[in-house]
Amino acid sequence: MFRRIYGTYPEGIWAAPGRVNLIGEHTDYNDGFALPIAIPQHTLVAARRRQDGRLRLHSAQGDGPVADLDLARLTPGVVTTWAAYPAGVVWALLEAGHRIGGADLHIDSTVPTGAGLSSSAALECAVAFAYNDLYGLGLSPPALALLAQRAENGFAGVPCGAMDQLASACCTDGAALHLDLRAGAHEQVPFAPQTQGMSLLVVDTRVKHDLGDGAYAALRSGCEQAARELGLTALRDLTPADLPRAVKTLPAHLVPLVRHVVTENGRVAKAVSHLRAGHVAALGPILTEGHASLRDDFRISCAESDLVVDTALAHGALGARMTGGGFGGSVVVLAEEGRVEAVRLAVTTAFRAAGYQEPGLFPVSPAAGARRIM
Ligand code: GLA
Repeated sequence: MFRRIYGTYPEGIWAAPGRVNLIGEHTDYNDGFALPIAIPQHTLVAARRRQDGRLRLHSAQGDGPVADLDLARLTPGVVTTWAAYPAGVVWALLEAGHRIGGADLHIDSTVPTGAGLSSSAALECAVAFAYNDLYGLGLSPPALALLAQRAENGFAGVPCGAMDQLASACCTDGAALHLDLRAGAHEQVPFAPQTQGMSLLVVDTRVKHDLGDGAYAALRSGCEQAARELGLTALRDLTPADLPRAVKTLPAHLVPLVRHVVTENGRVAKAVSHLRAGHVAALGPILTEGHASLRDDFRISCAESDLVVDTALAHGALGARMTGGGFGGSVVVLAEEGRVEAVRLAVTTAFRAAGYQEPGLFPVSPAAGARRIM
């Protein structure tokens, strides 16, 4: 495809995966903890340097023409389509003072868009890794992830935290990534459910979630306001023992937000210690508790996601929760291998009975992070 579009061969091909967050939702921008895995679905970028300061972009998913941008004129707001993600990465690199030139990029992806599986982070990271190698920048995977987040915040206008980009850049095969967003630290926690006869199933509810529509920003600023009113740098600094004081001090509408963040950080710690002890099944109830917290306290679930969770649990799943930013997107289900077919069938049947769109169901296992593949 690259050759057909640009008339020459690429210098290389890079891949970056989407992610499923196991637990630790809406904690990243509160300086907290998260535990994502990379999924096998990924974005590929074939790339070749250009000497004339132009960035040309083409996607196998869009049927549009090649976008042709001038590096010297990349400013936030000028690109409003999907091209804002790759262009934003180049903008972030320039803004950070890196000496880079133009490129021709052809992009192809198997990460479903709008499904809460971080297709935008996959795209950003694939481009960041390609530029890093092509222009010999020598940046580490976490540094590239933070540049990708900068692209999304500053260029694409989405005020996300860094979890998705760190997951796409730093995950490894057969492990979950334990992130401490304040320390900027991460560690790999071995996680191979299939070796214990278990499976992770992703259910895409087909309810398109969009983090740019204001609801995500409102939650983030609610959390930041709560931290300020409590005299803290971030909600990370609050422990469960501090909750009664928070309840007394804060305006009522901020209390559930705070309760979610505090309990969710606790769930990440619990999940990590179970995985370290090899108790994969013990993750199930933690997922389900996390869902209840997002549904009842953070209030970002939806009827379709709740139906998946309830149906999966009623048919023997060990645990289930919405994953990602919320307002639709995907649900992750942990189930014993022998239960997966029953869960699959029950969810599909329940969606049909409710008159919802046919959901997308597929198994995932912890996959590798971003890398050069050719
Ligand atoms: C989206 C954002 C992340 C994170 C999650 C919620 O995926 O991009 O930064 O905040 O929502 O955990």
